[in-house]
Amino acid sequence: MDSDQDRAPHKDNRTEKNRVVIFDTTLRDGEQCPGATMTFEEKLEVAELLDEMGVDVIEAGFPIASQGDFESVQEIARRAKNAVICGLSRAQFKDIDRCAEAIKAAPRGRIHTFIGTSPLHRKYQMGIEREKVLELVTASVTRARSYTDDVEWSAMDATRTEKDFLCACVEAAIKAGATTVNIPDTVGYATPEEFAALMRMVLERVPNSDKAVFSTHCHNDLGLAVANSLAGLGAGARQVECAINGLGERAGNAALEEIVMAIKTRGDVMPFWTGIDTTLLTRASKLVARVTAFPVQYNKAIVGRNAFAHESGIHQDGVLKHAETFEIMTPESVGLKESSLVMGKHSGRHAFREKLKDLGYELGDNALEDAFVRFKALADRKKHIYDEDIEALVDQEIASAHDRIKVVALTVIAGTGGPQKATITLDVDGRHHTHESTGDGPVDAIFKAIKAIVPHEARLPLYQVQAVTEGTDAQAEVSVRLEADGKTVTGRGSDTDTLVASARAYVSALNKLLARDARRKPETMLAS
Ligand code: KIV
Ligand code: ZN
Repeated sequence: MDSDQDRAPHKDNRTEKNRVVIFDTTLRDGEQCPGATMTFEEKLEVAELLDEMGVDVIEAGFPIASQGDFESVQEIARRAKNAVICGLSRAQFKDIDRCAEAIKAAPRGRIHTFIGTSPLHRKYQMGIEREKVLELVTASVTRARSYTDDVEWSAMDATRTEKDFLCACVEAAIKAGATTVNIPDTVGYATPEEFAALMRMVLERVPNSDKAVFSTHCHNDLGLAVANSLAGLGAGARQVECAINGLGERAGNAALEEIVMAIKTRGDVMPFWTGIDTTLLTRASKLVARVTAFPVQYNKAIVGRNAFAHESGIHQDGVLKHAETFEIMTPESVGLKESSLVMGKHSGRHAFREKLKDLGYELGDNALEDAFVRFKALADRKKHIYDEDIEALVDQEIASAHDRIKVVALTVIAGTGGPQKATITLDVDGRHHTHESTGDGPVDAIFKAIKAIVPHEARLPLYQVQAVTEGTDAQAEVSVRLEADGKTVTGRGSDTDTLVASARAYVSALNKLLARDARRKPETMLAS
């Protein structure tokens, strides 16, 4: 199908030497960035897809950071099928021990330990001298090796570290047993030429460099993360650390989908290959965007809504005559299917079940029945139903399956007259409660009414509305982020009525906060 555009080395020429290890850090560096917090279940869902996609190493979290992180790394380790499951730890024994415990159940587990090596990190972050750093490198890697043969060591802020000292640290890490050495551009400061030169220098100067795989970990502060990572590969690195949709601290990490497709499409100048099933890239991007409520930029390479759209007449004409005139990759190669019109209100259960299978969902009988009822209700209100509509509907069904608070009814008075008023009925643990509130706009009135029924102190750092498809009857997908007691959750709701979707999203976020302590009563759950 896309073999004419796949220029990665032919199967016969694929060796371990030109294979690039894909190390995904969506669940660690990605999840660490403000607002991208995922729930336990969401992390498992992402990990499962990464594993299915052929990611070699999944960095599942930072086990010492919190009990939640520990438990999610542990569960991901238990469920892993093919990928190596990795946990992050500082250069401290208590971090490493906790990390080892979390990854213990993985068929193949890795401990990733790091320390800041640059003068800035040594002086201002840790207040220690070079000798102490070297000591900690040896001690931390040795400790990690006492648990597993697969140990990665990272020189945080490597690109701003004195070259001699960086080489000394790398040599010590390998001597102590590190099997992967990561050279991060932690602050996204390097240019491709500089980064390649640094990687080449370390590989050439460190006497035992042949005993470890070298890795890139490039941040995107100057928009150079992918370019720097590819330059690192050209210089001899064979592992790339990256994240779906480029998620990560600040401006993010190198985007996995861009790295993988660049290697696949330009194998003529970058003779490498990866084990990634690229047809799952679009699904992974959508999943991560959904669970984090970080929307994907429309013109983002590979997975943006416009990445394969041809608007101008000349381009459309060219693509229709011969796709390669304006397409360097096929949409199919990244798993993009044409949005298809699905059944209308006359479609039956069987067709609905088949459609769900096509979209990658497998629901139990009860969930399927509930989703079908909602599909019928939607079909009554909306003329054309697309795949995206079904996806939004089923995602909501899955997310709300165990909710203790549910939206039963909503009436809103909005418009220029003011004040806007909302009357909402919620089902809270099986009992109905109704409240009416006025507000500064209809959404404010709805949220105040919900708060009156379920009192809480949570802050609302994000309220976001997106149309699922085109047209004035499109479903709105609303994301609401709530923050309480240092915990951030994101709820989502969809409906053809934006206000109903808003109420559902807010209630979904409350349910997630409530889920952190199942014994608490909703009325008191957030009182801190
Ligand atoms: O950016 C960085 O240096 C990191 C390390 C922990 C690898 O994320
Ligand atoms: Zn990082």
